[in-house]
Amino acid sequence: PRSHSTSLHRFPFAMVTEHDIDFFEKLLPRQAITDPDVLESYNVDWLKSVKGSSKLLLRPQTTEEISHILRYCNERNLAVCPQGGNTGLVGGSVPVFDEIILSTSLMNKVLSFDTVSGVLVCQAGCVLEDLNSFVEENGFAMPLDLGAKGSCQIGGNVSTNAGGLRLLRYGSLRGTVLGLEVVLANGKVLNLLSSLRKDNTGYDVKQLFIGSEGTLGVITAVSILCPCKPKAVNVAFLGCSTIQQLLQTFRCCKGMLGEILSAFEFLDSACMQLLQNHLKLTNPITESPFYILIETSGSNANHDEEKLHNFLQHAMNTALITDGTMAKEDSKIKALWMLRERITEALLHDGYTYKYDISVPVEHIYQAVQDMRVQLRDQAKSVVGYGHLGDGNLHLNITSPFYDSALHSLIEPFIYEWTAKHHGSISAEHGLGLKKRNYIHYSKPAEAVYIMSHLKNMLDPKKILNPYKTLPDYIS
Ligand code: FAD
Ligand code: MLT
Ligand code: ZN
Repeated sequence: PRSHSTSLHRFPFAMVTEHDIDFFEKLLPRQAITDPDVLESYNVDWLKSVKGSSKLLLRPQTTEEISHILRYCNERNLAVCPQGGNTGLVGGSVPVFDEIILSTSLMNKVLSFDTVSGVLVCQAGCVLEDLNSFVEENGFAMPLDLGAKGSCQIGGNVSTNAGGLRLLRYGSLRGTVLGLEVVLANGKVLNLLSSLRKDNTGYDVKQLFIGSEGTLGVITAVSILCPCKPKAVNVAFLGCSTIQQLLQTFRCCKGMLGEILSAFEFLDSACMQLLQNHLKLTNPITESPFYILIETSGSNANHDEEKLHNFLQHAMNTALITDGTMAKEDSKIKALWMLRERITEALLHDGYTYKYDISVPVEHIYQAVQDMRVQLRDQAKSVVGYGHLGDGNLHLNITSPFYDSALHSLIEPFIYEWTAKHHGSISAEHGLGLKKRNYIHYSKPAEAVYIMSHLKNMLDPKKILNPYKTLPDYIS
């Protein structure tokens, strides 16, 4: 993991002085933290694969405080690492050197909720699961869901343009986010906190900040469109023998379930092994090479169940699937979802995880796993594939007992070359962060990277915001 940053040199930012700490302590009483024990967990990422050495953590509560912080840091040439729930998977949320950690954890207030339109406006530090519970009380649901929902924050979700488990149904945050409030590197507040569905007054500037991983501004508030909470939810967990059957099942499922299909996820048998070995979860069906999780969400339980039954009968009769189980009660639905959502955690128990998140034309979705197994022979502990099949998004994960640089160099750039050859994206949903910034050219033309560097220069000329992330080293 160290290899992501060993070749890096600290940019010539100023160092935090006692005088700076005095300033921040006055601005944020008790929330300018220098205690190394508290700082420890903020300096390490969720995967425990990258570690910074920041000596100062700031926990503001308001946009104005963030504005003061950034104006001061910009004047003093102090680097800042914005941090939400610290569940990011590409090393973007922790400092590389001694950047000041700017945590949004205390910015956790709902600002308004419109029970007619479903538009929620909230501060950036609201935890996704808390927001979901809040809107559910009003008959709505958040348009995104992910395994990290208990810790990740909406500001972090927007900053990474997180995809997750509901994207198939509700689309990406680029559509559901209606407005943002952002503090720019110089401390100016950019108020784009619109609640409008339609607004074609020139360029859609807020899109720049969606997926910009804290490199262009700090998101302080989000306006987001929530769909109605579905009245009926069903989940089916199915077994499948081949990848061709998996793809055929998806095709058939789209045709037969239509508008009620809300998730089509998959995992391979190697993932199931990890869930059983490390988390003691039980496989509810006969062992299979592949497993599918299908969710339907609709407004009429009988209608949805009938559709799902017809689909399952057809899939069994035509031997697309080998076995399956269904759930309509909350607890069983949750238990089935755990088999998909907890793979990331199971991998962490397996050893050091080399994590790849690619999108490819769906017919090639599993080929990367097969080709990687050939490439690595017996060098890795596990090579597993799972992901959002419905979105053409594969999570290819490899583990070894400890970080192994020889193994790492067998995986990279092989996987990036493979992805480029298949016209895919080297980061479908996790972003580039620290780990993938230098591979951007595999998925983006030089002209696009050039525009990105100009945008960075314009919005953050001193490059104080999340340095060493997202943009490749040669333009930083
Ligand atoms: P952090 O991890 O704290 O930060 C992520 C990035 O955003 C960093 O670059 C940080 O600097 C920046 N940032 C954070 N807050 C702000 C802000 N307010 N303003 C500006 N920049 C900011 N991702 C998916 O897309 N789909 C999934 O299904 C998915 N599942 C996951 C499951 C697990 C178990 C885990 C651990 C992670 C998963 N992720 C998934 C990764 C995903 O990126 C994060 O979970 C989430 O979107 C990040 O939110 P966060 O608040 O933790 O942000
Ligand atoms: C998922 O879909 O489970 C997440 O993106 C996390 C991961 O890739 O492990
Ligand atoms: Zn994912």
